[in-house]
Amino acid sequence: MADQINRKSKEVWEKFLKIQPEANLMFPDENLIKIFSNRYVEVPKPPAKLLDHGFGSGNNLIFFATKGYECYGLEIAEDLIRVTNEKFEKLNLKVDIKEIIEDSFDYEDNFFNIIVSWNVIHYLGTREKVMKIIDEFYRILKPYGVLILSTLHPDNALFNRFEAIGDNSYKIVEDSPYDNRKGLIMYATKNKNELKDLFLKFSTVKLGFYSNDLFLPERINSARLIYAIK
Ligand SMILES: C[S@@+](CC[C@H](N)C(=O)[O-])C[C@H]1O[C@@H](n2cnc3c(N)ncnc32)[C@H](O)[C@@H]1O
Repeated sequence: MADQINRKSKEVWEKFLKIQPEANLMFPDENLIKIFSNRYVEVPKPPAKLLDHGFGSGNNLIFFATKGYECYGLEIAEDLIRVTNEKFEKLNLKVDIKEIIEDSFDYEDNFFNIIVSWNVIHYLGTREKVMKIIDEFYRILKPYGVLILSTLHPDNALFNRFEAIGDNSYKIVEDSPYDNRKGLIMYATKNKNELKDLFLKFSTVKLGFYSNDLFLPERINSARLIYAIK
């Protein structure tokens, strides 16, 4: 099932910018701007090594690169890799991008100061796969390195499109005029302690959340946040 989930996810995300061209952004998520201001939690400063896992159209990666971080990126969708590489070339910024083929990463142990995984891990589909990725994050982070992650909050409108298939895995069964995600399998827990427990290996774990209702209830975007120190 794991490979099937990845294949479906890749298929969906390859078409993402054709279906939602407005999501091809040059500016970052404002929550990340705030987190990286160092006024809420401590984030290693540039030129630290930073990995953006599932970087999408590269908008957050551009922000990190312009701040002076040594930037690395992982994606499953070739189209998003191409678009992001083009943006970096145009802006004359440096980035090292790899396509994700397997769920283990081709980086040495203790390599990164920061890993950002912004609204990605739920697309892995199962708790086992999410745990495996979190183990990889832990392995490739340096001691005292920081993981900054967001994933689904129970208020997220996506829950209204879900059918539970067991063990906190859900299938998106309702179509939406706004995306092509019907058919995807997602992992999501409504229980925040259960989410926090996935990061038990880390020495410090903080939970947060953000929520947006921009006048369209079907698109309420609520995410739980994790800040974890190795
Ligand atoms: C909601 S988008 C978030 C993109 C970006 N992080 C952002 O915040 O704008 C989810 C991203 O996860 C990527 N993705 C989906 N399945 C993945 C997987 N198994 N491993 C890594 N990335 C994946 C998708 O290609 C897509 O770019």
